[in-house]
Amino acid sequence: MSDVEADLRGVADFTANPYPYYAKMRAAGPVHTVRTDDFERLWLVVGYDEGRAVLADQRFAKDWRTLPGQTATGDPINANMLEMDAPDHTRLRKLVAREFTARRIEALRPRVQQITDGLLDAMQPAGQADLIDALAFPLPMTVICELIGVPDLDRDAFRKLSNNVVSPVGEQEESDAVAAMGGYLTELIEDKRRSPGDDLLSALIAARDEDGDALSPDELVGMAFLLLVAGHETTVNLISNGVRALLDHPEQLAALRSDFGLIDGAVEEMLRYDGPVETATFRFAREAVTIGSTAIAAGDPVLVALAGGGRDPGRYPDPDRFDIRRDAQGHLAFGHGVHFCMGAPLARMEGRIAIRSLLERCPGLVLDPEAGEPDWLPGMLIRGVRRLPVRW
Ligand code: HEM
Repeated sequence: MSDVEADLRGVADFTANPYPYYAKMRAAGPVHTVRTDDFERLWLVVGYDEGRAVLADQRFAKDWRTLPGQTATGDPINANMLEMDAPDHTRLRKLVAREFTARRIEALRPRVQQITDGLLDAMQPAGQADLIDALAFPLPMTVICELIGVPDLDRDAFRKLSNNVVSPVGEQEESDAVAAMGGYLTELIEDKRRSPGDDLLSALIAARDEDGDALSPDELVGMAFLLLVAGHETTVNLISNGVRALLDHPEQLAALRSDFGLIDGAVEEMLRYDGPVETATFRFAREAVTIGSTAIAAGDPVLVALAGGGRDPGRYPDPDRFDIRRDAQGHLAFGHGVHFCMGAPLARMEGRIAIRSLLERCPGLVLDPEAGEPDWLPGMLIRGVRRLPVRW
């Protein structure tokens, strides 16, 4: 293998601000070899067109277990559709889509507003808060737990487990968290099987397609895991990265405050400018593939930098400018192709309600001047900070 072009292991300012790195790479070409904490050498796609093309290209597999020469079986929680390819992915996605409907999501709107209002009621009198603890984390967490039907979950413990799966601080922590999460979800599914409720997980246990096919026990664990983790690890950072972008750009904040009709476009711009998912999940070339003018060998791992695509000047003029009135459509923050995010309508609804309500309730909202340096989440998958101290 040839030498890598960029070594991204433990580069602190890459975690704090990867955009100049992506810009520099993109200026040299859309596809590069890099070294990360997890891979000696992988392909990183930083161009918008090329990234979008890879996400839709079936020559890239998600399930590495199906690649030639692989014998590993993996953990049940990895038996989730984000780690699968057709035909399993198609089958699972269809089964979930039957239950995870626009109607079920739209019906949550009043409840999302009510949870938001309750959190803001509790937070407001203090005049200062960690916005993540007070709003950005508990809102999506409560919503996804209620949607799926997770009772009396120990949310702090679950948050730690989930953090350790998505932004692991070490291999041991990651595998312990995966095992604990798998055990918890297996029990939860058994409970629901015995006494079903009016919730998504009970519906998924009962779901059958036209051929009478159902989700297997491992697939149910994988699905519950995917929905629970994807349902909050991302939206928390939509709210916190979005609020950070607004507070860093007072003229944009003022524009939004003077016309909340701009909120939908503002949330799209937040997703483009500094979205929660920095890189899509791994894909592996099933065969030799050429992207742009770069030849990728069969079996090679590829990461699409969604954050790189969002700042591609070929797609978005003056891409480093945060502008809530720009047309940010087509951003890759929710992915693209067959794995496009199933939770996008829910995430958008939560983001719009949370940010608008926060601004309405806290007119003088600013970043806490005594907050110190941001504590960035490690790794390249999730982009965000652990704490967001604010005052109003
Ligand atoms: C702002 C919040 C969110 C962002 C930025 C986001 C982003 C993404 C992205 C980029 C993917 C595709 C990854 C890839 O192709 O490698 C994805 C897939 C997925 N997301 Fe989200 N997501 C968000 C919220 C949610 C929510 C709230 C849920 C569920 C309630 C959810 C459920 C899923 C599922 C099930 C998939 C897998 C779809 C498949 O494999 O077919 N996401 N998401």
